Amino acid sequence: MSGKFFIKTFGCQMNEYDSDKMADVLHDTRGLSQTESIEEADLVIFNTCSVREKAQEKVFSDLGRVREMKLANPDLMIAVGGCVASQEGERIIARAPYVDVVFGPQTLHRLPGLLEKRRLFGRPQVDISFPEIEKFDHLPPPSVKGATAFVSIMEGCSKYCSFCVVPYTRGEEVSRGFEDVLIEISDLADQGVREVTLLGQNVNAYQGKTEDGDIADFAMLLEYVSDIAGIERIRFTTSHPKEFTQRLIDCYARLPKVVSHLHLPVQSGSDRILAAMKRGYTVLEYKSIVRRLRKARPDLSLSTDLIIGFPGESQADFDATLTLIDEVGFDASFSFIYSPRPGTPAAGLADDTPKAVKLERLQEVQARIEAHALAISQAMVGTRQDILIEGPARKDPDELCGRTENNRVVNFAIGDDPSLVPGRIVEVEITRAYPHSLRGRIADFATEKGAI
Ligand code: SAM
Ligand code: F3S
Repeated sequence: MSGKFFIKTFGCQMNEYDSDKMADVLHDTRGLSQTESIEEADLVIFNTCSVREKAQEKVFSDLGRVREMKLANPDLMIAVGGCVASQEGERIIARAPYVDVVFGPQTLHRLPGLLEKRRLFGRPQVDISFPEIEKFDHLPPPSVKGATAFVSIMEGCSKYCSFCVVPYTRGEEVSRGFEDVLIEISDLADQGVREVTLLGQNVNAYQGKTEDGDIADFAMLLEYVSDIAGIERIRFTTSHPKEFTQRLIDCYARLPKVVSHLHLPVQSGSDRILAAMKRGYTVLEYKSIVRRLRKARPDLSLSTDLIIGFPGESQADFDATLTLIDEVGFDASFSFIYSPRPGTPAAGLADDTPKAVKLERLQEVQARIEAHALAISQAMVGTRQDILIEGPARKDPDELCGRTENNRVVNFAIGDDPSLVPGRIVEVEITRAYPHSLRGRIADFATEKGAI
């Protein structure tokens, strides 16, 4: 098959990463090129998410639409990957027989072979197995697009929170080899990457085999990544409060390249709900992690995930979540209403909170966190922040944009310094806070040449 492929990605950063890998593998092994337009594609791939019902259903409505395209062009190939594929497998073909290939998050490197088999044998191919981390040995070297890059360090999840499908769709936790990760990051640094985001469902469960047969934990990995020349900033997502060890907290005191921003999902501020969710920590334990982290890194900004309306969530449980939001001062959140997922233990729990109440609670949580975020942005006005330049500003290409350590986009005038190029970290004075971005001016430029 020659031609173009189109990928639609649903869900989390892990899926974004996997979609990039699918693109790399199709390009390298089959010479296919990616298109942003579904109409001109010879192969349409849906990289799906099944964390909430809405995302799952969206895939089937999108599939209905490509079916029309396939009726008009029978040569069009359709592939479904990701977590819905992993969970539904053959059932996808039963429901949508025009789908050609179904593959899971751990078999994406086999996509070219599956497409070939589809062509040779004339019937749909399904491979949703979990060959232990084999995919990393079969992927082409990462292609670099700018100064930032994602690097997967572990896959899967063994926590089995009572509400979550991920352990069933992505399999148990498996870590990539220690040197394997470090070599990939050094290669990226050689190609101009300055900021890496280490990816995994629970990065702090990392247990990477070293070449001499030892096991490296996540704190050790951070230490070694910090030593890689060229890498200036290290982010990671997601980490789990249960394994947030003192060794890891100490990294915030020792390793300045680890940014002053952490995404640490808490899910609820009520111990009763946390226990029902099988999260493995209490609110006090979560707050103790935050207190020790802020002792090590006083300006640390924190974002989180919250599930609103878990079965049995009372008004008192919800109020406890609001209290925790204020105590920690979360800067951002992914908050969603609980969605029962078939096959998970929580799906069988009695749930008598009306939908309207859940919606009200969600809005209250989101408004509360947005207020915190705006207050934090406003407090940044007048401060100097290190910004990693990412490229031209979205709204005005004569300006540049970049991100602060706490993940805010800052737009600023270029001035007349030719060294201001993507990948450079510059000090910018924040001059104005908007709800979703900041405005600034190059700090030295401002001092030397007066206000812009
Ligand atoms: N590993 C992460 C952690 O420490 O919790 C979470 C990864 S999970 C795929 C991403 C987020 O999806 C969770 O933090 C949770 O808030 C949300 N989520 C998972 N299952 C959900 C469900 N059944 N309903 C609503 N939200 C859900
Ligand atoms: Fe899901 Fe809990 Fe793992 S939210 S990804 S089972 S830590």
